[in-house]
Amino acid sequence: MEKNDVQSPLSSLDKDGFIPLYYQIQQALLEQIQTGKLLVGDCLPSEYELARSYRVSRMTARQALHNLKSRGYALSQKGRGTYVTRPKLEKNIMHLRGFTEDMKQRGMMPSSRLLAQTVLSAKGVLTEQLRVEEGSAILQLRRLRIADGLPMAIEESNIPLKHYPGLERTDFTSESLYKVLRNKYGVRAAWADEVLEASPATHEESELLSIPKNAIMLSISRVIMRTDEIPIEAACSRYFGNRYRASIRVPTTTIE
Ligand code: GLP
Repeated sequence: MEKNDVQSPLSSLDKDGFIPLYYQIQQALLEQIQTGKLLVGDCLPSEYELARSYRVSRMTARQALHNLKSRGYALSQKGRGTYVTRPKLEKNIMHLRGFTEDMKQRGMMPSSRLLAQTVLSAKGVLTEQLRVEEGSAILQLRRLRIADGLPMAIEESNIPLKHYPGLERTDFTSESLYKVLRNKYGVRAAWADEVLEASPATHEESELLSIPKNAIMLSISRVIMRTDEIPIEAACSRYFGNRYRASIRVPTTTIE
């Protein structure tokens, strides 16, 4: 990929002003990203190139790149240099929204690649999570979840079919699971138990999400319940840590 030119640096840096030089460089690069002059995947100038063209120390250049990276606008990869990325999506884990609805609310276009849609017999931990008997039919979906063309997560959903007959015939390449459950089966979600964990990407995950080997993944395992206390779904969503971060508003009880 072509390296983009840094715009005429000497005229744009205010070297005697109050605003730190690293910040001015960071903002100049950010402006190029926000106005679309630099696109996701484009290479950013290296620390050395920035230092040379802006006539600043490498430390100043490094700070500017570091700040862009920590704000999620850039990522460095061995052999590839530093390139433009999209800032992390903030996932409010207090919301029981499905992926499709969540992405639409952010103004993004959701889509899925169906990796597997199978009916299997419940066993082990799934029987406990979904409160079903051993051997009862479970619909298992594995989907690559995509937003605006960018792969965001790999999700595995397990849904007990005894409550939703015929669900296995739905075309989940295009349908939203939660929408079908709501519209066709009148399901109303009440609450969910979620467990968050960090772990390295598997080989398959790094291929599917086009991310570095062993990249850190944010795993969210969820058992979501109906208002009548019947489990709807046991799921595990695996997000690339660089594209997502979890947030939560903690309700106050008392401050101790
Ligand atoms: C979220 C949840 C998954 C759920 C999915 C449904 O991502 N973490 O557990 O399966 O939403 O999404 P959709 O309604 O788009 O199929």
